[in-house]
Amino acid sequence: MNGTKYGCGIGQCGACTIHVDGKAVRACVTPVGDLKTKEITTIEGLSTKGKMHPVQEAWIAEDVPQCGYCQSGQIMQATAFLAENPQPTEASIMEAMQGNLCRCGTYVRIKRAIQKAAEELNT
Ligand code: FES
Ligand code: FES
Repeated sequence: MNGTKYGCGIGQCGACTIHVDGKAVRACVTPVGDLKTKEITTIEGLSTKGKMHPVQEAWIAEDVPQCGYCQSGQIMQATAFLAENPQPTEASIMEAMQGNLCRCGTYVRIKRAIQKAAEELNT
């Protein structure tokens, strides 16, 4: 699997974000020994039965990626956030995503995609 990306290696950029027991975690600073009995999900595991997660669909609809390098981490962060915050405010989205850096500056489209996904998840 090559969806999860390695960026800074020190827990500062979010490119490596995965889910551990449903929570967003920076893989680069997570010791493998801590994961023995935990459920790990990478971007490859977000879709179910060939159907993309609503966040992935919103990402496409809003044409979010530019170079793409940060995007799997962004999506993993966003899906974990929405699972716990199904009706997010703009401020809460910005706060939740502030640790995920994008050198291409796709932040406005990321926010719009999260808002779109939240609408979809609430219908
Ligand atoms: S690679 Fe940057 S937070 Fe993990
Ligand atoms: S899309 Fe290029 S770093 Fe985010």
